[in-house]
This record gives sequence, structure tokens and C-alpha cells, in this order.
Amino acid sequence: MASVDIVDVKKNFGSHPVIKGVNVHIEDGEFVILVGPSGCGKSTLLRMLAGLEHISGGEIRIGDRVVNDVPPKDRDIAMVFQNYALYPHMSVADNMAFSLKLKGAAQSEIDKRVKPAADILGLTSLLDRYPRQLSGGQRQRVAMGRAIVRDPQVFLFDEPLSNLDAKLRVSMRTEIKNLHQRLTTTTVYVTHDQIEAMTMADKIVVMQDGRIEQIGAPLELYDKPNNLFVAGFIGSPAMNMLHGKLDPSDPSRFLTNDGISLPLGQAHRGAVGKDLVYGARPEAIRLGGDIPIEVIVIEPTGFESQVLGKLGQTSVTCVFRERVDIRPGERLHVSVDANSVHLFDAKTGERL
Ligand SMILES: Nc1ncnc2c1ncn2[C@@H]1O[C@H](COP(=O)(O)OP(=O)(O)O)[C@@H](O)[C@H]1O
Ligand SMILES: [Mg+2]
Repeated sequence: MASVDIVDVKKNFGSHPVIKGVNVHIEDGEFVILVGPSGCGKSTLLRMLAGLEHISGGEIRIGDRVVNDVPPKDRDIAMVFQNYALYPHMSVADNMAFSLKLKGAAQSEIDKRVKPAADILGLTSLLDRYPRQLSGGQRQRVAMGRAIVRDPQVFLFDEPLSNLDAKLRVSMRTEIKNLHQRLTTTTVYVTHDQIEAMTMADKIVVMQDGRIEQIGAPLELYDKPNNLFVAGFIGSPAMNMLHGKLDPSDPSRFLTNDGISLPLGQAHRGAVGKDLVYGARPEAIRLGGDIPIEVIVIEPTGFESQVLGKLGQTSVTCVFRERVDIRPGERLHVSVDANSVHLFDAKTGERL
């Protein structure tokens, strides 16, 4: 196992900058997830860690070793891709053993590694099968098994669950997290799915357009997003955002552009007069209060009720623990938990 350091790393394709100076420190044993919209540079960064892509600037260290010029096979990493890339004409056991065979390992050594890996992944009874005889989830486990038998310093995953159906994705999420808890191998995992990031990571790196927007533990990002991008990207349903200004007569209240007064946890005197965005997570809006919401759609899930409505002219989503007996077109009165609201500068997008 090893720590990983990404220091001021840049990547250009031709004259086109794709990674624009990125710094991440990954602790030995940590599970770090790179998340961001499609095209933001996640795979490129991961491929640079793997050595599959040359870096245009900066430094990558695995443990104490600078690996900028070290070829992939000598980096002591194992990568799992979205398309599992199994060899169709080889059994599960042979697929898992392939890299060890390439290195010329003895059969006894191969058995010693493949058996426990198969055991951990629940593949023991499938070792003689061929990939075509496996379900998508089982194939994904074989791809992970292939990585595990190499006992690398670092695992790299690039959207490994994207090809699975929704239900399997959820169970594989738990499996991968559980696997990491048992093996404790340093892991860098790429996904565009913020729920995957939130549920699995020790630490999340939020990227946009080749830059890092914020690094933090899942709940840190949820509770204290640095800017509007992170606030909008993390959390589902997304944070509600209302445009307006501080109430000039009471800087501990917010006034939306359509004149609705909302509470703030604290006064922000310095921001009087500025264009601001008020952020309230769906669960920060509570039933009962003096703020009117016009109900548009109600979605009961059984254990909660999601209500899509209008607060003034702005669409808002509320998640109530209670079941609500109300019809579209009717009015609901709510309050906002002032201690969990967020305030951003509308111009810079930065948190106040
Ligand atoms: N080999 C390449 N040549 C030119 N542009 C590339 C190449 N690979 C990726 N890109 C571009 O780099 C950007 C980041 O791509 P990528 O790292 O694959 O994003 P992500 O994995 O976050 O979806 C995209 O704009 C993509 O089109
Ligand atoms: Mg990608």
C-alpha cells in the first residue's frame, strides 16, 4: 500500500488544456473518489496515475517514488475499467491468474493468490466458467479479482459500475466498499455519479473543467459546499437555490427577488446590497410555518414525501418525513431550518 500525491499536474491534448493544475494528496489506505460531470477530466487524471497517459506538467508520486516516467507495468497499480475487458476464451480462474502467469509465477503461487481473492468476491464456485456464462455483476467481480490477485499498492477504478443495472449498482457499491474495508488498499475511483461518491468515499474530489472545485469528506461537501457548483452537484434531490439580497432592514434575513423573506442562521452585514443565492437543501424545508409554497407535484415514496412546488417564481423541492395530504395546485405552508441554509455570492459563486 502507498500514499499517492498529485502535484500541480497538467495535461494538454495538443494545445487544448484538459487538466489545468491539479493537487490531491491521497493517504495510504484511503478510498478517494474523483467525481464531476462528463468531460471534466476524471479519466484523463486516472490514466495519468496509471501511466497510460503522459503528463504535460507537475509530478505524480506513489509512495516516495516519482512515477512521471515509470511505465504502467512498473507502477505497482491495478486498474479496473468500465468495460471489464475479460478474455472471453479464458475461464474465470485463468482470467484472474493472467497477470501472474505473464510474470512467470509458479502454479502454487498463483493458487495461493487466486483462491483467497475468489473467496472474498464470492467467485469460488464459478472459477471454471467462461465470461459469457456470467451475469454482469459476476463479470465485474472477476475484473476486480484480476486486480486483487496482483496485490497492488493502489487500485484504480474508472466508472466500474456504469454498465450494470440500477439495482446491481447499489449492491456492488456496498460490495466494493466492504472489499476496501477488508483489504484497505489505497483506492482512486472515478465516477460521474455523486451518489456513488457520497456513499463510498472516504474523501471526494469534485472536478469541473479540468480543475478541482473542492476536496473533502462526503458530509463536509454536503454540509459546507465551497461554491455554487459543488452545492448544486452534491446532493439529490439538489439544493434549492433562490436569488435575492439581504434584507436591508434586517441582515439576518434574506429577501428573494420576488419579495419573500427567509431566515438566515446569522447576520451577514458585509453582504448588504450584494446579489446573493440562498441555498436550502430539500430536507431543510419543514412542514408548518408562514412561507407559502404552491404545490405542483407530490411524490410519496412511503417513507418520505417529495413535493415539487413554487416558492414565489422559483421551483423548489421539499423532502418531508411526514406523509402529506395535499393536492396539486393547493398551498402548503413551510418554514426553513435557518441553521442549515447556505449563502453564496451570486457573481463569484463563492460561499459567504
Ligand atoms: N486522447 C484524447 N485526445 C484529445 N482529447 C481528449 C483525449 N482524451 C480525452 N480528451 C478530452 O479531454 C477532456 C476530458 O476527458 P475525460 O478525462 O475522458 O473526461 P471524463 O472522464 O471526466 O468524462 C474531454 O474534453 C475529452 O474530449
Ligand atoms: Mg471518463
